[in-house]
Amino acid sequence: MPKRYSYAALIAMTNNFKDKLGQGGFGSVYKGQLYTGFLILVKMLENSKFSVEEFINEVSTIGRIHHVNVVQLVGFCFEDSKRALVYEYMPNGSLDKHIFSKGDETQSFSWEKIHEIALGIARGIEYLHGGCDVCILHFDIKPHNILLDHNFTPKIADFGLAKFYPKENDFVTISVARGTIGYIAPELISRSFGAISNKSDVYSFGMLLLEMVGGRRNSDIYADRSSKAYFPSWAYDQINKGGDLELWSVTEIEANIARKLCIIGLWCIQVKAPDRPSMIKVMEMLEGTINNLQMPPKPFFSSSQHNSIGVVQSNLQRMVLGCESILEECSYNDSV
Ligand SMILES: Nc1ncnc2c1ncn2[C@@H]1O[C@H](COP(=O)(O)OP(=O)(O)OP(=O)(O)O)[C@@H](O)[C@H]1O
Ligand SMILES: [Mg+2]
Repeated sequence: MPKRYSYAALIAMTNNFKDKLGQGGFGSVYKGQLYTGFLILVKMLENSKFSVEEFINEVSTIGRIHHVNVVQLVGFCFEDSKRALVYEYMPNGSLDKHIFSKGDETQSFSWEKIHEIALGIARGIEYLHGGCDVCILHFDIKPHNILLDHNFTPKIADFGLAKFYPKENDFVTISVARGTIGYIAPELISRSFGAISNKSDVYSFGMLLLEMVGGRRNSDIYADRSSKAYFPSWAYDQINKGGDLELWSVTEIEANIARKLCIIGLWCIQVKAPDRPSMIKVMEMLEGTINNLQMPPKPFFSSSQHNSIGVVQSNLQRMVLGCESILEECSYNDSV
């Protein structure tokens, strides 16, 4: 079970919150150390309205989650208005720093390693969905929430956090605040796209997978050729016409890994949730060969579908980068 820490203990463990690693949607995170020398990460939760009983209930649920591809909760703090979660520290940081790096100090992975990492992430998500005694939907799968241990084994972070924020009447408000544009499934933006389910995480996983293959953010308004501005759309067209993914100095085996990951990602980002595979199916596809994979239907909205896009746009009006290019590139043929 996770251990309860006082706020004074958090101050001591983080050296008075000296080493701030970042700021996410839930609050700030700080690096720290237990008296044993074990490195930790303290996540201070802002604006969580839970009572002590509710908070401890959720913490004990999250604390019972143990999987090699899921970050371990070590402890928590609940004192007056201070609420915090204490996790094991991951020395190789989050995946975004590696896949979006431009050959600087961070390591870029071999295609075998990218495949292995993808499979690890899929296993972690599948465990959260069905492998443990509670079903945890993540709602915020993205490269920043995939951490890497000393062996570069991927670990999913920030699962179960949506639960610390009681549902408001307007689901859109809470989902947009919790999810991240570029990864968030259409049904989390507007219910007119269907029901929210574990397939919403499959969608985010697909976007993540495509970013791992592209080695870049899916939406890049500075991409050298405009057809490449939205990577999933460009990759779909390339594979569909039998072209390649324009990878430099790769063997045929490596090119096939990349193509396989792309096809799986394109299945995962189907607009209609029932068309997306389950995480178990995703794992099967990752473990199988490319010859067993069929090309999915084109997974985007159609720019002629103004009604459905209008719904998305109105809900996303305050969101900037990436969104417009996604909506422009989209071609979704069924009416919603
Ligand atoms: N356990 C950890 N070990 C090492 N670094 C971590 C750990 N957890 C988070 N980080 C780093 O701190 C950064 C900020 O994390 P945080 O979860 O607050 O924000 P985020 O992941 O960008 O957004 P979100 O609130 O949607 O999760 C992460 O991007 C990651 O690089
Ligand atoms: Mg995070």
